[in-house]
Amino acid sequence: MPGTELFGAEERKEVNDVMESGVLFRYNHDALRNGHWKSREFEKALADWNGVQYAHACTSGSTAVAIAMASCGIGAGDEVIVPPFTYIATVEGALLAGALPIFAEIDETLCLSADTIRKALTPNTKAVVLVHMCGSMANLDEIVALCEEKNLVLIEDTAQALGGSYKGKALGSIGKMGCFSFDFFKIITCGEGGAVITNDEALYNNAHQFADHGHDHIGDNRGMEGHPIVGFNYRIGELNAAIGVAQMRKLPYIISQQKKHKKAMQASLAKFPQITFRQIPDAEGDASTFLDFFLPDEATAKKAVQALKDAGVPAITGVQYWWENNYHYIRNWEHIREMKTAAKLLIQTVTPPQDYKTLQLPQSDAIISRLISLVVKVAWTEEQLQDLCAKMEKAMQTL
Ligand SMILES: Cc1ncc(COP(=O)(O)O)c(C=O)c1O
Repeated sequence: MPGTELFGAEERKEVNDVMESGVLFRYNHDALRNGHWKSREFEKALADWNGVQYAHACTSGSTAVAIAMASCGIGAGDEVIVPPFTYIATVEGALLAGALPIFAEIDETLCLSADTIRKALTPNTKAVVLVHMCGSMANLDEIVALCEEKNLVLIEDTAQALGGSYKGKALGSIGKMGCFSFDFFKIITCGEGGAVITNDEALYNNAHQFADHGHDHIGDNRGMEGHPIVGFNYRIGELNAAIGVAQMRKLPYIISQQKKHKKAMQASLAKFPQITFRQIPDAEGDASTFLDFFLPDEATAKKAVQALKDAGVPAITGVQYWWENNYHYIRNWEHIREMKTAAKLLIQTVTPPQDYKTLQLPQSDAIISRLISLVVKVAWTEEQLQDLCAKMEKAMQTL
């Protein structure tokens, strides 16, 4: 949880600016706000960092996915390719938009690939939501080329990969729209928050309007603004944005610390021939939030998780075995497989493109069942890092 590791006076100062003016709302009230426009400032910092023209902040990474889907024109009945390894929000975003998810396999980048997307295509596929899992990226050149060839909208769910890049371009800036999350567990946090980014002015206009009941945000009388489209309320508040403003300034430090720490951790595990590492298409662009590695088979992976526990690694950092996680891999998504919903969704009124109950994803199973991810923290001292490496090595020696 890098962002939260560095909470301090900077975040408090930004929040106090808002508290002192009392304007918690992101729009209007110009005279009262003492010149503080935290949401706008946060958006400018995000756009600049990611090298794009537009950023629009919202309430969460989940609502960022919803905004991206709507802004890119993906809705009722549209088929959308999604990965089975993500946080469940990616899939929910498609379902709640009325779209029909199609699960494609991942490869050892831990993301979708052009090959697996191609195999899942149907004549009705409209979009791909590509998730850059655990701080690193997919093989983007091939995926972008396929999306261009097949006229598919590419949305990047970059919730876990702020600060990552591919061949010099920020992750999230390569498709039509990128989505970010700033929840409590992310690279930087607003407590709760999210954002979409794009270089397309029309998509940006869709985004800020959709995220605020269709308001066109022209003029200074909110009640008299135009409403070109139907929207909803996904507005970020000034208090959350204020935290984001302070956290964005810390992002370069966060990324550089993560890179340094991950390198040391990887050097430790590289001593063990049975361990292999996740494929990273552009190592320079790895945000390095996790060290992801594979054991030869599921049984050894389970043994390794236990050995890491026995060696005391979880007291220093998070040990994720996603195969047994209820929210990040499809194996345990029985609510999706059986489409248990509070109220009827569009997908329940049509024949879905896949039978989720019986869907098999053997390639993804073979990858996720062998995968362990260790959280890379920012604020470790050299001593703590060495202690961690020693404990990891001790654990691996027992396999
Ligand atoms: C890949 C991915 N997409 C979307 C989200 C949703 O973000 P939030 O928790 O801010 O709604 C997350 C959060 O974990 C995520 O990891």
